[in-house]
Amino acid sequence: MALIEARELTKTYVMGDQTVHALRGVSLDIEEGAFVAIMGASGSGKSTLMNILGCLDLPTSGIYRLADEAVEGMAADQLASIRNRRIGFVFQQFNLLPRTSALENVELPMVYAGIKSPERRERAMRALQKVGLGERFAHTPAELSGGQQQRVAIARALVNDPQLILADEPTGALDSQTSEDIMRLLTDLNAQGMTVVLVTHESDIAAWARRKIVFRDGHILEDVLQDSKQSGSDSNSPAKLETDSHSVELSAAGPPQGARAPSGGSAVHGVTSVGVSSA
Ligand SMILES: Nc1ncnc2c1ncn2[C@@H]1O[C@H](COP(=O)(O)OP(=O)(O)OP(=O)(O)O)[C@@H](O)[C@H]1O
Ligand SMILES: [Mg+2]
Repeated sequence: MALIEARELTKTYVMGDQTVHALRGVSLDIEEGAFVAIMGASGSGKSTLMNILGCLDLPTSGIYRLADEAVEGMAADQLASIRNRRIGFVFQQFNLLPRTSALENVELPMVYAGIKSPERRERAMRALQKVGLGERFAHTPAELSGGQQQRVAIARALVNDPQLILADEPTGALDSQTSEDIMRLLTDLNAQGMTVVLVTHESDIAAWARRKIVFRDGHILEDVLQDSKQSGSDSNSPAKLETDSHSVELSAAGPPQGARAPSGGSAVHGVTSVGVSSA
């Protein structure tokens, strides 16, 4: 069973006498542990799909199952619940509350989940440490750089321990060096078993993923597996996650598993931690 199972999704917006077919029948499976980049021209339907995958919006027609739960037809409170339990969101503009500390921003999803204050603090602190911002917990967004703000947003996305991270142009507002740091962080989370789906306009960013899906006019134009930048740097390559001698055997035997399977999920589950700056 794939984590994401979508069949013939359509989304139609009617505005006055205008009808926009944002999605025209999109079917895809995404395995647990996958790292997927979605590309395509402006207006091709990428964000519309992300909103549906993220249970922020429902399709006009089609079937969407997330972790075997049927999402289409869910009421608003059920959508909120599945979002809270399973999904972390990262946006281009960070969407942090201004004049609110990094720690309180990261605590927010746990407020919605009804988690009590001491535990909230502790988990938010741990998430900030995980993204390398433990010492900046008291800073407000205005007192942080763009890259640091996006790290806070990623910590906020992580704090309910989601299976799925959905990131719509997470590096769209960042310079190339900072973008690379953010991609390394997402790669690290993926190596720890989280499924990552991101939208990007930049092929440099898409190159970090192991699968690339290209949209055009509400359709999937292309869906390919690729050698990711992460395996190029080789410390995060699925084939190298075993012991050293085993990894030699694997690479001698042919392409690494990650080059064939969209997920690589089973290969990475045993990994507990891969350094953020390992590449
Ligand atoms: N809420 C809405 N109401 C009406 N039309 C919408 C709405 N949201 C999106 N659309 C239309 O649906 C189409 C797909 O939009 P979408 O935001 O998914 O594109 P995108 O691929 O994310 O583009 P971009 O790269 O510019 O972010 C566009 O034609 C857009 O104008
Ligand atoms: Mg968009």
